[in-house]
Amino acid sequence: MRGGARENAGQNRVSPDKKKIAKSIHVSPHLFNKIQELEIDGYDSFSSKCQYLIEEGYEAIQMHNHKDNVDSLTFIDLFAGVGGIRKGFEDKNTKCVFSSEWDKFSVKTYEANYGDIPFGDITKIDERDIPRHDVLLAGFPCQPFSNIGKREGFGHETQGTLFFDVLRILKYHMPKMFLLENVPGLLTIQNGETFKIILDNLEELGYSVFFDVLDAQNFGLAQVRKRVVIVGFHPDLNVSTFAFPQGNTENRVPVSSILENNPKGYSISEHLQQSYLFKKNDGKPQVVDSNSTIQVKTLVASYHKIQRLTGTFVKGGDTGLRLFSELECKRLMGFPDDFIIPVSRTQMYRQMGNSVAVPMIREVANAMKEEYQMAQQDKKVGVSYA
Ligand SMILES: C[S@@+](CC[C@H](N)C(=O)[O-])C[C@H]1O[C@@H](n2cnc3c(N)ncnc32)[C@H](O)[C@@H]1O
Repeated sequence: MRGGARENAGQNRVSPDKKKIAKSIHVSPHLFNKIQELEIDGYDSFSSKCQYLIEEGYEAIQMHNHKDNVDSLTFIDLFAGVGGIRKGFEDKNTKCVFSSEWDKFSVKTYEANYGDIPFGDITKIDERDIPRHDVLLAGFPCQPFSNIGKREGFGHETQGTLFFDVLRILKYHMPKMFLLENVPGLLTIQNGETFKIILDNLEELGYSVFFDVLDAQNFGLAQVRKRVVIVGFHPDLNVSTFAFPQGNTENRVPVSSILENNPKGYSISEHLQQSYLFKKNDGKPQVVDSNSTIQVKTLVASYHKIQRLTGTFVKGGDTGLRLFSELECKRLMGFPDDFIIPVSRTQMYRQMGNSVAVPMIREVANAMKEEYQMAQQDKKVGVSYA
């Protein structure tokens, strides 16, 4: 990774021993002259040229070693949250080389589970400072593009949106594949104009792009959770079709199977129940118990704000009604029971509600990896779909 002088550069924080490290490099006079004479765009000083060359060399060696194993894939995790997409994509043949997330509470959970501290605001990170990678993963926030270009005087219709940041990183690195995830509303905002711009821009880069709306309840979760998933394959891979896994609509998991037996500390006070949840003529919340066979409503980031009646509540406990527990939230989203959540209750609900259905992403990831393997084999034997 190019770590040098730019703000936010490099995966590791700059150590206080920077000066000492800088002094420890030795080059022969001959090499010194060669480097001095070398013209590298944007790198004028001897030191910056050295840094550039070392990092290029380092990455080339990494890539070379990596290429020996077609099964292994490096990936980056953007808008990482608590790493739900990473959880679904990562396996023994993949390696995360960069992540970005600006929310300090999500970063805490991310670090506790993956040992990496994500970089912050992606809009401030130069794409050249991101390591090369095979796969880009991003659950970018949904923003309409309407008139942004005109209003802000930007040169590109997506500029000023977070999708623009995904696009500029894709354009610079051209990874072999990408996986983007979003709410289904992305398909319809601005009468579909925003989504069309997204697809057009991805295709303009040459990628074969596919998308589908998938529902977590078909992937072994006791929750209705529809999300649009967009995947893309590098033009060199010649991928012309991609079949999204659809899961299993026959054997759905009942919510009763993920419930704990009276977990402590999740009760909803009688006052809150009377004044908000069961207020007359104000709709009724979904209430489940240990006999419920349904799949519950989508877990949203504001679930804990029960005044909004956005959720599903569980019968039982001291007051007769409670919120889903932390363990139940993890199970609803498909995280393992031992996933660490080192933040407050409020943050836990927000993080789980913002995350992804892990098994659903895993199935899409597996299909992508298979497609990639097939494309690699076809390339080896010279098969062309042209
Ligand atoms: C929909 S959530 C994605 C959650 C993630 N897929 C997961 O599994 O937890 C979008 C995330 O993008 C982060 N985010 C928004 N703007 C950002 C920015 N400019 N730089 C970095 N992260 C950002 C938010 O804090 C949020 O965690």
